[in-house]
This record gives sequence, structure tokens and C-alpha cells, in this order.
Amino acid sequence: LFTRAWTFARGTPDLDHLPPDDRPEIAFAGRSNVGKSSLINALVGQLRLARASNTPGRTQELNFFTDPERDLFLVDMPGYGFAEAPKEKVAAWNKVIRAYLAGRRTLLRVFLLIDARHGLKPPDDEILDLLDGAAVSYQVVLTKADKIKPTDLEKVMERTLKALAKHPAAFPAIIATSSEKGLGFEELRGTIAQLLES
Ligand code: GTP
Ligand code: MG
Repeated sequence: LFTRAWTFARGTPDLDHLPPDDRPEIAFAGRSNVGKSSLINALVGQLRLARASNTPGRTQELNFFTDPERDLFLVDMPGYGFAEAPKEKVAAWNKVIRAYLAGRRTLLRVFLLIDARHGLKPPDDEILDLLDGAAVSYQVVLTKADKIKPTDLEKVMERTLKALAKHPAAFPAIIATSSEKGLGFEELRGTIAQLLES
């Protein structure tokens, strides 16, 4: 499923230039700098498919990736929350993120990325509510697990699962990952493979 055949299909800053909604989509959402682009690269095993950087606000468009042999889009998104970018840009991204997440008919699942060091923050809660309201299936993925101790990872997993219990559209399992160390990707790939079968 995840081979080097994945390529960039299209990037758009608005909803007027989305690719046709003719196949399932899996989107990766989360705060700026949480590790969305890095996670997509680690998932497909390519270092530079999606552009990652240290500067929050790196991804500025909805970026669609595809594998010519698969009926599936992977979607990298701009982040929400703080970014090193002009206020108007951040506001525009927020609008596009919300409209896309709430309105995209073909969204099979949203992986909501949360920094394992920080857990859920208020901007994440807003997105959880939005996804619940739109009845879009989503699942939390903790990122940067290499940056904390295993005992702290356990704690943040527990705390996050407890918070998710109040959210009807949340899938009741969390995947902990490190794109840096390649941790959690068998589980993530397995989850996606299952989604595509169902
Ligand atoms: P925006 O596009 O700005 O919203 O950010 P993003 O969510 O796409 O994050 P990106 O993948 O660009 O990563 C942000 C920074 O975190 C980069 O410096 C990455 O190298 C780093 N990073 C991402 N994943 C990991 C990880 O698993 N472990 C560690 N230690 N660093 C990571
Ligand atoms: Mg990015």
C-alpha cells in the first residue's frame, strides 16, 4: 500500500481547486509544527514527498498525494494555531481547514495529530467538536513520541483517551508515533489498510 510510487498530485490554498471527489481521502490535521508532513513522509517511506520544516506554518496549502495504482488521496494540511506567518494567512488557513474537514464528502478518516509532549490543547478541542458536528470519523495520532519518556507517553495516552470518550466521532484508539525513529508506522499502515477494506 505504501510504496515509493506516491507522488504529489495537487496543492490548493482554497476549496475551489480541490481534485475531483472521486476516491476516498485520508487527511492529516493538527496544530502547526506537530509533524503532519513528516508523518506522511515516514508513512510512505520518502524523505521529501511532503515538505517539512522547523518553522511552524510550513505547509500553506491542502496538498494531495496519490499512488497511480491506488484509489486514495493522502492529504497534508496547513496547521492551525500559532504559526510564523502573517495573521491574515493564518486566518485564511483556518477557514480552509474547517471548511474542508466539515464538508469533504469523500473523507474516509482524519488522523488528528497531537504532540505527545503537550496532549490536547484548546485549538484541538475546537477541531474535535467540528469533526463531531460533521460526523467525520477521526483518530488521534500522537507525534514526536521519541521526545518523551515511555511513562509520560503512557500518561498522555490515558489522558487523551479519557478526553476522547466524550467525542462521538472519535475512534477509540490512539496511535503513538515517531517519524524520526519510525515508531508506530506498522500500526498506522495496518489501520489504513483495514479502513480501505471496510
Ligand atoms: P506545518 O506544516 O508548519 O503545520 O508543520 P507540520 O505539522 O507539517 O510539521 P513538520 O512535519 O514540518 O515537522 C515540524 C518539525 O518537527 C520539523 O523540524 C520535524 O523535523 C520535527 N518532527 C516531526 N516529527 C518528528 C518526530 O517524530 N520526532 C522528532 N524529534 N521531531 C519531529
Ligand atoms: Mg506541514
